Amino acid sequence: MAEFVIKGGKKLRGEIKVMGAKNSALKILPASMLFSGPLKVEKVPLIEDVFLMIDLLKNIGAEVKLTEERIIKINVAGQIGSDLKKDIAERFRGSIVLAGPVLARTGRVTFPYPGGCVIGKRPIDVFLDGWAKMGARVRKGASGFDILAKRLLGTDFTFKNVSVTGTETLMMTAVLARGKTILRNAALEPEIPSLAEFLNKSGAKIKGAGTPIIEIIGTDGKLLSASNAFKVIPDRIEAGDFLILGAMIGEKIKVADCNPEHLTTLIAILKSLGVKIKMGRGWVSVSKPKILSSSDIKTKEYPGFVTDLQAPFTVLMTQAHGESIIFETVFDGRLNYVDDLNRMGAKISPLDPHRVLVHGPTPLRGRKIESPDLRAGLAFVMAALIAKGESIVKNIYQIDRGYEKIEERLQKLGASIQRI
Ligand code: EPU
Repeated sequence: MAEFVIKGGKKLRGEIKVMGAKNSALKILPASMLFSGPLKVEKVPLIEDVFLMIDLLKNIGAEVKLTEERIIKINVAGQIGSDLKKDIAERFRGSIVLAGPVLARTGRVTFPYPGGCVIGKRPIDVFLDGWAKMGARVRKGASGFDILAKRLLGTDFTFKNVSVTGTETLMMTAVLARGKTILRNAALEPEIPSLAEFLNKSGAKIKGAGTPIIEIIGTDGKLLSASNAFKVIPDRIEAGDFLILGAMIGEKIKVADCNPEHLTTLIAILKSLGVKIKMGRGWVSVSKPKILSSSDIKTKEYPGFVTDLQAPFTVLMTQAHGESIIFETVFDGRLNYVDDLNRMGAKISPLDPHRVLVHGPTPLRGRKIESPDLRAGLAFVMAALIAKGESIVKNIYQIDRGYEKIEERLQKLGASIQRI
């Protein structure tokens, strides 16, 4: 099993490039099921979750070619199966997004309970309710779900919880349905309007993506056809990680190939802590301030403070002067990493299952730590980069799920990090 060996304390400087967004690529690949012919996708991050999605697509009959230039060509012209392979689908949460387009295309889909990061309960009730409201028969068995719909009908559906993948999945299901679908209380994350814009260019009729009310006029089974390539948008989570890292240990780090408009909340918070930030078209530069102030944060849906940056921000607050309360409101198990940070020298006290109090600043010491999930795994890499001495970060498959060759990009900034 590969692990990272990290020697902490090295100042980081230079440019780091942001890859295409995992959570955009994982939605456009399933969207290929809505197309009658070939689809080209550019700026695809070469990460484990994307490889899993490709395996899943190939397994049901899609032709998929991935190049080293990060381009994927998918052809879904032939016969497509309805059963998402259990041992692939249960390894990542993004697999559920494929269920909607497969259902819309083939009239049936079976899939296991989707896996992914262990960050608390991850129910799928809004997906099942949405499909049922569109006329599908939903069955839950011991090994998963079986959804059947001879014809999907447009409907008026309100999400009882805002769900990112729920919004994307039902939006794509509705594209091939008969009649108009209205999705209310929809998620606003930038990956959603980006997907809708591309589907619209290919023949779909989606209005309001990026707002809480999305209207889709279904094609009644007519498949879409793509005239241009889809460009995966920059990964705002990865960009946010690098900004937080720069605030911890950067001597002018330039985060390139990002979209600063997707980072406004984080940038506003970092500026309020004294972090020096400059930005231009497609880049943001960041340096560690002499004195970093503390700040409470509360995670929220976009455009609020994103839950995926909560763990890195907690690491940052271990270096801030004062106390910070970190309040996780989106997932109920996403503070599972704090004991390890305390073992590295942090002073973090749980207040209740959703909030911790960070007392800063505390120097961190290198240790052996194991990535509990993708985002906390990267937060451990950051903690190790600022810690005194050597750390070993284990279970880095979790990190590879979402970050392409992260060690090579950090090495270019001057970090001492080796994959062994
Ligand atoms: N929820 C329900 N019922 C559902 C679905 C969700 O109650 O049927 C609840 C969840 O329990 C949670 C909340 O709604 O409390 C929000 O979950 P959401 O469905 O929005 O999360 P997701 O779609 O499963 C996506 C990203 C996550 C990211 C969240 C929040 C993908 C593949 N995953 O997850 O990304 O944290 O939105 O922004 O897009 C990651 O990249 O590391 C990651 C976990």
